[in-house]
Amino acid sequence: MACLSTTYSASTHSHHYHLHSSTRKPIASLSLLSSSPSITLSSLKCLRSSSSSFFSNQKLQRRSMSHTISVGRIAVVPTCFASNTDQLKSAKEDIKVLLKTTFCHPIMVRLGWHDAGTYNKNIEEWPQRGGANGSVRFEIELKHAANAGLVNALKLLQPIKEKYPGVTYADLFQLASATAVEEAGGPKIPMKYGRVDVSEPEQCPEEGRLPDAGPPTPASHLRDVFYRMGLSDKDIVALSGAHTLGRSRPERSGWGKPETKYTKDGPGAPGGQSWTIQWLQFDNSYFKDIKEKRDEDLLVLPTDAVLFEDPSFKEYAEKYAVEQETFFNDYAESHAKLSNAGAKFDPPEGLSIDDGSANGVPEKFVAAKYSSGKRELSAEMKKKIRAEYEGFGGSPDKPLQSNYFLNIIVVIGVLAILTYFFGN
Ligand code: HEM
Repeated sequence: MACLSTTYSASTHSHHYHLHSSTRKPIASLSLLSSSPSITLSSLKCLRSSSSSFFSNQKLQRRSMSHTISVGRIAVVPTCFASNTDQLKSAKEDIKVLLKTTFCHPIMVRLGWHDAGTYNKNIEEWPQRGGANGSVRFEIELKHAANAGLVNALKLLQPIKEKYPGVTYADLFQLASATAVEEAGGPKIPMKYGRVDVSEPEQCPEEGRLPDAGPPTPASHLRDVFYRMGLSDKDIVALSGAHTLGRSRPERSGWGKPETKYTKDGPGAPGGQSWTIQWLQFDNSYFKDIKEKRDEDLLVLPTDAVLFEDPSFKEYAEKYAVEQETFFNDYAESHAKLSNAGAKFDPPEGLSIDDGSANGVPEKFVAAKYSSGKRELSAEMKKKIRAEYEGFGGSPDKPLQSNYFLNIIVVIGVLAILTYFFGN
């Protein structure tokens, strides 16, 4: 029944039901649902995602087809447009377990990036503009040369998708990517969710929107691709820092060595060439390592090397090589921007699954913290204290002389004696 209330009271904006006829209007009446007793309300709520899921998985596809509900003579295909917050939170926990057990952080980050990175800001219409809309799950897009190997990431996420059908693919990919960065020791990314999925392979972007690793002029190529996504030089450099994670495999992209001393034993599937020694640790070592280029076993693609050659890119790359905190702050901002690229959100402002404990969100009030004595006083409070000190000839900057107290005690003593005598 929890599902019932979420579907019909809280989220009228996010769950709509379409008629398979020329009339297209939302249906949200319980009597209509109860006319189909064989379908539980919870399964109904979640049908949107599975009905839009082709994902080259016949089982899923068949199951979703069978979920079409017949009401009278009209077939109703329930279509939910946005993710469910509770399911997003639970999916995040499952993703954490998946990361811990399979060490798939890098490929999840690459998956999220490749779904979002097709965005073209010059096209207004969704989904023609590309971006984070779940389209990379379709075989036609998975087969693009740039996406070689990403089928493995999809396979890992599929059980989570099946368990939480109320999470769209577009959200799941971005959730997996942001969680992977965070779990690998990277910054917390100010994410929002509620991305709407494309529903058919015809809605996939054409091949060629993602960057090449070895173009003739790497700097202008990177600018062509990332500016088209509405991103800047700073975003290009910060986001390239994601190569602090993972490896390149010649059998997939054609780049990198088959194995190195850092990758021959895994973890995860062994092999490939990493950009950094600790390629499951998110830090700024990517910038340090490509600057030095001293280790033959570490990869530097032409598009990595240019970050220290182009004058504008170099400014950021040099800074990130020495200031990890600056890199983390810029990365978090750029990653969030990328993950929103081209996405259509329902509700339009997106959904938050954060508890509000990080990244500039005000902390919850904790009484004990304010009684620790370490807290800085407000300017007004300092003024008040100063005035009180000065009222009796002291100063908060200088400790009071010990004989000052002695004098006060003597004065009080004298007054007491005088009162005693005059009182009598
Ligand atoms: C700047 C242009 C970029 C180029 C030319 C590029 C190119 C590549 C290539 C060739 C690989 C190796 C793939 C393989 O053989 O499996 C790779 C892997 C990877 N890329 Fe990029 N990339 C770029 C930007 C990005 C961005 C923006 C991100 C994320 C924000 C990213 C994240 C990753 C990750 C995490 C891997 C490792 C995947 C794994 O270990 O399975 N890349 N990239």
